Amino acid sequence: MTKKIALVTGGMGGIGTAICKALAEAGHVVVTTYSKPGRETAWHADMKGLGFNDIHSFQCDVTDFAACQEVIARIAKDIGQVSILVNNAGITRDASFRKQSKDDWDAVIRTNLDSVFNMTKPVLDGMLEHGFGRIINISSINGQKGQFGQTNYSAAKAGMHGFTMALAQEVAKKGVTVNTISPGYIATEMVMAVPEDVRNKIVAQIPVGRLGKPEEIAALVTFLCSDNAGFLTGSNIAMNGGQHMM
Ligand code: CAA
Repeated sequence: MTKKIALVTGGMGGIGTAICKALAEAGHVVVTTYSKPGRETAWHADMKGLGFNDIHSFQCDVTDFAACQEVIARIAKDIGQVSILVNNAGITRDASFRKQSKDDWDAVIRTNLDSVFNMTKPVLDGMLEHGFGRIINISSINGQKGQFGQTNYSAAKAGMHGFTMALAQEVAKKGVTVNTISPGYIATEMVMAVPEDVRNKIVAQIPVGRLGKPEEIAALVTFLCSDNAGFLTGSNIAMNGGQHMM
């Protein structure tokens, strides 16, 4: 596989870290963004300890279009042109709709959905010019089936796949694929933050009988980035242990 520059938003979280490692293992140059300073030094030390020396990071608020444009311009200047984009940054602000505030709604829509526009827009022309690109949107089982307490998150995650299907049609002829991955409940900090009693009830509904592993999602991302995945576009690939089948 030819070495490519892969940008992973929210790459220091649970699924994001696994994606960064898998893409680095596949031989790509990995660049990630993080929202708040704090854990990047320790994260890079971990990556170096694992032998990944070609991983770079930039602080960037993915809700801010101008900041995303700036970071992409900086990556182009310092590292090179992005040909793989994994829109992975996401947050939850769970509350039943009656208790949900306008802030909870806005924060989730901006971080999980507006970010997809903000990051894709500045990288797409370069992908089209070079005749190759991979855009992977990390959505969720809850964008497919809805979830009590997640009207904001389910709306944003369903919106990501609408974006995928439309853009996939626009860029298919130019060697750029656009796909959605919808993970189920994966063993990450985000899922562990769900109250234990609620979480146990959810795990009981997963036919495979366990939470997913971030590495399982990352392996799928790596496949989607490969040359062999050139005929796979506009798809929403569910990886949820059988919890929701479509
Ligand atoms: N279905 C139906 N009714 C439910 C319910 C459910 N899933 N969950 C709670 N209720 C009911 C309660 O029994 C209670 O009923 P009564 O009033 O009759 O007693 C009522 O709803 C409680 O409503 P509240 O608004 O007071 O709810 P709450 O404040 O107690 O908690 C919640 C709501 C915070 C959303 C909590 O249910 C919760 O954390 N749920 C988990 C949400 C979830 O799955 N989040 C996923 C996070 S991880 C992630 O998002 C990653 C990914 O992509 C998968």
